[in-house]
Amino acid sequence: MSTQDWKQAAPGIWSLKAGEPASLSAMSVMGRQPRTDALQSMETASFPLDSEKIRVEVTGKQTVITLPLEREESLYGLGLQLLKLNHRGRTRYLRVNSDPKQDTGETHAPVPFYVSSRGYGVMVNTSRIVSIYCGSAVRLDSDLSGEAKDRNADRSWKATPVSDTVEIVIDEPGVELYLFGGPTTLDVVRRYNLLHGGGVLPPKWGLGFWHRVPKAYTAEQVMDEAMSFREKDFPCDVIGLEPGWHSKSYPVTYEWNEERFPDPAGFVKGMSEQGFQINLWEHPYVSPDAAIYEPLAPLSGSHTVWHGLVPDYTLEEAREIYMKQHETEHVDIGVSGYKLDECDGSELTRNSWIYPAHAKFPSGADGEQMRQLYGLMIQKMTDDVYRSKNRRTYGLARASSAAASSLPYVLYSDLYDHRQFVRGMCSSSFSGLLWTPEVRKARNAEDWVRRMQVVCFSPLAMVNAWADGTKPWSFPEVEAIVKKYITLRMRLIPYLYSAFARYCFEGIPPIRAMQLETASTVGAAGREHALDSTDFAYGGVSDTDVDDQFMVGDSLLIAPLFEGESERDVYLPAGVWYDFETGERFEGGRTIRVRAGLERIPVFVKNGAIIPMMPVLQHAPKQGEAVALELHHYGDAPGRFVLFDDDGVSFAYEAGEYRNRILEVQTETDGALIGSVSEAEADWKSAYSSFEWVFHYGSK
Ligand code: GAL
Repeated sequence: MSTQDWKQAAPGIWSLKAGEPASLSAMSVMGRQPRTDALQSMETASFPLDSEKIRVEVTGKQTVITLPLEREESLYGLGLQLLKLNHRGRTRYLRVNSDPKQDTGETHAPVPFYVSSRGYGVMVNTSRIVSIYCGSAVRLDSDLSGEAKDRNADRSWKATPVSDTVEIVIDEPGVELYLFGGPTTLDVVRRYNLLHGGGVLPPKWGLGFWHRVPKAYTAEQVMDEAMSFREKDFPCDVIGLEPGWHSKSYPVTYEWNEERFPDPAGFVKGMSEQGFQINLWEHPYVSPDAAIYEPLAPLSGSHTVWHGLVPDYTLEEAREIYMKQHETEHVDIGVSGYKLDECDGSELTRNSWIYPAHAKFPSGADGEQMRQLYGLMIQKMTDDVYRSKNRRTYGLARASSAAASSLPYVLYSDLYDHRQFVRGMCSSSFSGLLWTPEVRKARNAEDWVRRMQVVCFSPLAMVNAWADGTKPWSFPEVEAIVKKYITLRMRLIPYLYSAFARYCFEGIPPIRAMQLETASTVGAAGREHALDSTDFAYGGVSDTDVDDQFMVGDSLLIAPLFEGESERDVYLPAGVWYDFETGERFEGGRTIRVRAGLERIPVFVKNGAIIPMMPVLQHAPKQGEAVALELHHYGDAPGRFVLFDDDGVSFAYEAGEYRNRILEVQTETDGALIGSVSEAEADWKSAYSSFEWVFHYGSK
C-alpha cells in the first residue's frame, strides 16, 4: 500500500477502508464525534509505519492485514486483558467471553486496538471477532526470523521464532482500519480516546465508596445496611441492588418486586436523603413476565437466553422500548445508574449460556456481531437516557468493546485472582476502558485488607457482597486499616475527579499502566535500560512486562502487595519520589525494594506533586455544596495542578460551565515554597469554599 491509500481521519490519525466491511461496528454503535480541538492541540505526528510494508488482502469471506513489526517492539492493549499485558509473540482471539480463564485473548472486553512500544497504534473498527497474530506468525519472506535450528543440539531453539509482522484476520470481506501516531505511547492512547469522543467524566459521587447488598434484600434491609455505614463512620455513596429487586430474574422483568420493594419511589428518595445513590443490577434477557416482552418479541433474535428474549438493540424501535421503560420506572424516581451484567456470554462445559453465533436478528445481524457489541449497545442506551435528563450516571458493565472511552461504565468479573485484578488496572488503560478489582470475600484478614487497599485506588471502589454478605468491617482485626483507605479514597475525590476531567478533555487515562509513563523504562528481566532521547520518542519503554503497579493521576504510583507478601520490587520512573506515608525519599529511574506491613500499601508520590484533598465526608459533596480543600504539596520541587471545578453532576461542563483552577507551588530564592490558586470570577459558583496549603517533606 502507499500512504495515499490512507485518509487523514483526524490529526495524527489515519484510516483505510478496503473491501466491503459490515456497516455495523463499534464506532457505528457509539456514533461519537472526535474531540478535534484536543487532537489539534497535540504535537503533530507523521505517518508512523512504512506504508509499503502494510498489506491488506480481501478474499471472498476473509480479510488479512499484515503490518510490520520490529524486533524489540512490545504490543499492549487489546482491551481488558487479565492474563497478559504484553502480547508480543502471542496469538489473540478477540471474542467476548465471561470466563477468560485461558490466555487466548478472549475477555469481557476485547478491543481490536494495540499500542506498540514504538509509539503507534492500530485499530480495527468492526463487529466481528478479530484474530491478531502479534508477532506469532512467521512468513516465508520474513527478514527477521533467522534460521532453523536443531532442537536436539541447540539450546537456543525457541518455540516461537521472532516474527517481523503483525497479522490481523477478520472473517469479513473488507475492513476499516485506523492507525494512530505518537510519538509516545501515551499520545497514541490519547488520540484513540479523543477519536472516540474523549474519556468519561463521572459524577463526583461515582468516585466515592460503593457497596452492593445480598441479592434478596428487602427495602428495609437495604436501608439498615446502608445506615450501618453511617453509624460506623464508613463513607459510602452508592448502594447496589442485586437480582432480587426485579419481580422475576434470570430472565429479568426490569420491574420492581412488590414484596421486597413495596414503594420504590419512596425507597429511592429515603436513601437519597441519607446521601445514598441507588444502582440497579440487570442483564439483557427479557422475561416473558415483563411488560416490555410483547412489544420486544418481534424485535428480538432467533434464540433465547434462560428463556428470555435477546432484543435486537441495533433497531431504534427496540431501543426506544427499553429506554422508555427504564426512564419512567427507574431514572425518573431517582435511580442513579445500572450494573449491566451478563452481556458477555459463556461456553463453559457445565455452565453454558449464550445465543449461538449463527443466531439471526431482525436487523440482519448475526449472533457473533450481537455478542461482540451487546455490552456497548446497552451501555450506550442507558447513558443516553441519563444524558437526556442532563444527569451523569456511573455504573458497571461486564462486557465492552472498542470506542467505549466516553461511556460511564466500569468493567468487573466473576473471576477473582488478585494479581489478575491488578493487571486489569494496567491493561484496561490502553483501550479506553475502566476496570474495578471489586472485593467480594477473602480467605483471611490479610487477603481482605490487601484487596481493599487496591480497590480504593481504582476507578470504582466497591465491595460486592451479593453472594457473601461481607461488609468493609467483616474482618474486625483489620477494620481500622480498611477504614483508613476508604477515608483516603474520599479525601482524594478532588484529585481523582480532576484526573477524570483530563481523561474527558485530553484523553489521558486517570489510572494507567507504567508503560504509558514517558519516563519509564524497564527491561524484560526487570533490568533498567539507560534512556536516550530516542527511547523517549518511542514512549520511553522497551520490552517491559511490569504489570503489578500503576499510576493514579499524574503523581501517585501504587505498588500493591498481595496476600503472603511483605515486600516487593517497585519500578520508579526517572525523577525524585517520596513514600506517600513515611516520606522516605527515592531517586527514580530504577527498581527499588520496599517492605510494608498490613497497615500500608506502598504508594509513592512525585516530587513537586500537588494533591488536593477534601474533608472526610460520609458521601461526596452534593450539587451546590462547596467544600474546603487542603492542597498537599510534596517534596522540594515546584509544582502545578489543574483543579477541575464544576457542578459535579450535570453535563453543563460540555457547554463550558466549568473552571480550571490552577494550583501552583513556586520556590522562593531562599528555597521556601509558596503556593497560589487562580481565582475564579466573583459570581462563579465554585465547588470549593477555601484552600489551605500543606507542605510535606520539603525540608528533607
Ligand atoms: C453475576 C455477577 C455478580 C452478581 C451475580 C448476581 O453474573 O457477576 O456480580 O451480580 O451475577 O446473580
